[in-house]
Amino acid sequence: MAKDSSNGENKTVTKPPPTPSPLRNSKFFQSNMRILVSGGAGFIGSHLVDKLMENEKNEVIVADNYFTGSKDNLRKWIGHPRFELIRHDVTEPLLIEVDQIYHLACPASPIFYKYNPVKTIKTNVIGTLNMLGLAKRVGARILLTSTSEVYGDPLEHPQTETYWGNVNPIGVRSCYDEGKRVAETLMYDYHRQHGLEIRIARIFNTYGPRMNIDDGRVVSNFIAQALRGEPLTVQAPGTQTRSFCYVSDMVDGLIRLMEGNHIGPINLGNPGEFTMMELAETVKELINPDVKITTVENTPDDPRQRKPNITRAKELLGWEPKIKLRGGLPLMEEDFRQRLGIQKK
Ligand SMILES: NC(=O)c1ccc[n+]([C@@H]2O[C@H](COP(=O)([O-])OP(=O)(O)OC[C@H]3O[C@@H](n4cnc5c(N)ncnc54)[C@H](O)[C@@H]3O)[C@@H](O)[C@H]2O)c1
Repeated sequence: MAKDSSNGENKTVTKPPPTPSPLRNSKFFQSNMRILVSGGAGFIGSHLVDKLMENEKNEVIVADNYFTGSKDNLRKWIGHPRFELIRHDVTEPLLIEVDQIYHLACPASPIFYKYNPVKTIKTNVIGTLNMLGLAKRVGARILLTSTSEVYGDPLEHPQTETYWGNVNPIGVRSCYDEGKRVAETLMYDYHRQHGLEIRIARIFNTYGPRMNIDDGRVVSNFIAQALRGEPLTVQAPGTQTRSFCYVSDMVDGLIRLMEGNHIGPINLGNPGEFTMMELAETVKELINPDVKITTVENTPDDPRQRKPNITRAKELLGWEPKIKLRGGLPLMEEDFRQRLGIQKK
């Protein structure tokens, strides 16, 4: 240690610290925000990852147990220095350092969430508790992808966020509907009790490339059936309505919600409303005019109407969907053709 008295002050001069390694330097330059996406190998999650990775300041970590998701959806990011993929089940605790958590992990299609309903409940309840515990430990902001299913078979139409819903607590869909309702409660309790920064999105039907083929969701079903030349099976009576949001619009809404100042819940979905018969006719017209449309028996507790009121999203996030159904279906058709190996005639 040397004394420097050149300017008259008796100042202690210490040896300057070693220069950080180039690796560390570049890390600090590159990654400002470390983001965890649970369920990031799934349909919406993988599109969200694509968007987050576009920003060079983001480092993205995906935790997924691959129940309904696949590494294939993330193929282009595997090996990327700002990307990490962890095989992890959210019903177990996860200890990592992150700034934001997008908590998507949960099967979304009825075929898969009814396959093991107890596991679905565990994913929604224990999984959300674990993600909230992580957020609390590291001070991260956390966004939950809840669902329009929290409105059940709604008695209010279209559904606003203030509507409390009409849900059967003991039906075959309850593991999902009630699971998500408890997940929302947990989010709010952590917010009130521990001051956690939370965001809740209530997602309405979303469609697009990378949906599981034959997963029982109506858009993927109809497109796969049309491409294979099979009859389009409309569940009775066919007059039940849904709204369909293209996945890039949904991802945009989720990022706006995470980055904005409003905790939600906020409905994200496309307010364009279609009956199942209209959807089948549109798919037939756009993809395969030769297929037949048939009616089959419906599943229990199928809601008759679903249409989001997105006033909150418009006002608070400046968000509304841009892609119309007729614009989105051909984009999904292309992806399904490739995966099914069916060329366009
Ligand atoms: N797609 C829609 O129309 C829609 C509508 C409403 C809500 N949501 C919600 O959005 C989220 C994503 O839905 P999606 O359509 O992408 O579904 P998806 O099934 O394609 O993706 C879910 C992902 O979570 C993973 N996962 C499931 N259980 C897990 C567990 N225990 N641990 C770790 N990973 C697990 C799956 O492997 C998959 O990768 C879900 O939370 C869903 O409830 C989706």
